[in-house]
Amino acid sequence: MDFNLSEEQLMIQQAARDFAQNELLPEVIERDRDQKFPTEQVKKMGEMGLLGMMVDPKYGGAGMDSVSYVLAMEEIAKIDASAAVVMSVNNSLVCAGLEKFASEEQKVKYLTPLASGKVIGAFALSEPEAGSDATSQKTTAEDKGDYYLLNGIKNWITNGGTASYYIVIAQTDPEKKHKGINAFIVERGWEGFEVGVKEDKLGIRGSDTHSLIFNNVKVPKENRIGEDGFGFNFAMAVLNGGRIGIASQALGIASGAYELALKYAKTRKAFKTEIINHQVIAFKLADMATQITAARMLCFKAACEKDAGKDISESGAMAKLYASQVAMDTTIEAVQIHGGYGYVKEYHVERMMRDAKITQIYEGTSEIQKIVISRSIAK
Ligand code: CAA
Repeated sequence: MDFNLSEEQLMIQQAARDFAQNELLPEVIERDRDQKFPTEQVKKMGEMGLLGMMVDPKYGGAGMDSVSYVLAMEEIAKIDASAAVVMSVNNSLVCAGLEKFASEEQKVKYLTPLASGKVIGAFALSEPEAGSDATSQKTTAEDKGDYYLLNGIKNWITNGGTASYYIVIAQTDPEKKHKGINAFIVERGWEGFEVGVKEDKLGIRGSDTHSLIFNNVKVPKENRIGEDGFGFNFAMAVLNGGRIGIASQALGIASGAYELALKYAKTRKAFKTEIINHQVIAFKLADMATQITAARMLCFKAACEKDAGKDISESGAMAKLYASQVAMDTTIEAVQIHGGYGYVKEYHVERMMRDAKITQIYEGTSEIQKIVISRSIAK
């Protein structure tokens, strides 16, 4: 087992770190306050290859490995968790799903602009009444011969207001339950497709989260992904990889909050000494450093297994379950270490605490991760 990063991986990490410092940090507080999408920054991320990191260059991607993806995600999320989720969804849920399962024509038409960052994508599975219980899809796709008629509502869709292409999961044959579900590529602007309300969120406020409304949208048959009835298995397979992205986002939020808390503890004085010299503070930082390192190792393990072509349902779920808990715990303690300063926006850690919470909810709640892990170990 080699714990050393390659020269290329270190270069990617440094490039993402520099980008986050120079381009994301300057207005991150304002974007959070105003719920402003980082349009210019996301465009630059596309130009840097960060939006299709693992996709084959022949489809516009950067052709990197998954460990590089974890490293870049951590650096972006350290500074701006909102930009990180835009990156995660485009890479893991949209591009990875298309590269693995789409037809050659679909890859040329849709994957290439998505992986090169010319446009961004969204993944629409969740519904008002189908979140964790994802097989209970109410959105329908009626088979009409050479097209499907799509009707229904999707909720809490990341990149919902900014995407050009959407992967939409819908029920074609309810009798067949999850075997009757299909996945489709839907273009923004198609008749009957409307982007609904933007959510006013606790955290990741720079990302745009919308409902989507489909009212008799005609989806050409060639836009179905895979065989008839493959949609649910497609969504599950894609989410396994997505969980590495969100775990890395959580890792970045945690390490960002830890670095700020450490810096603050080394300079802030109380009772005639820097507060890091008080064991009560030093022990908090020791716990943070240990847990962050463990979370990073889980992310790397899942990433290596993904690149080795192994089943990553268990390792992806473990990485997300653990890293999201570490993000929550670390950010709460980072606010505590900062005291009153931690409670105001200028010091960043209050935003990180709000951003951390969603990592325990989206792409499968912590409770769902425990279902996935426990089923896997019981096999
Ligand atoms: N990997 C691969 N296949 C899986 C799988 C996994 N992790 N979990 C289930 N499957 C497959 C099963 O093998 C089965 O396939 P076959 O019938 O072909 O064998 C099929 O899916 C159905 O499985 P179950 O009978 O186990 O289904 P279930 O209803 O009992 O539960 C679940 C499945 C794991 C709870 C699933 O519904 C689930 O993961 N729910 C959470 C959904 C989720 O993560 N939503 C996030 C929304 S996306 C998002 O948040 C994006 C964003 O914008 C940031």
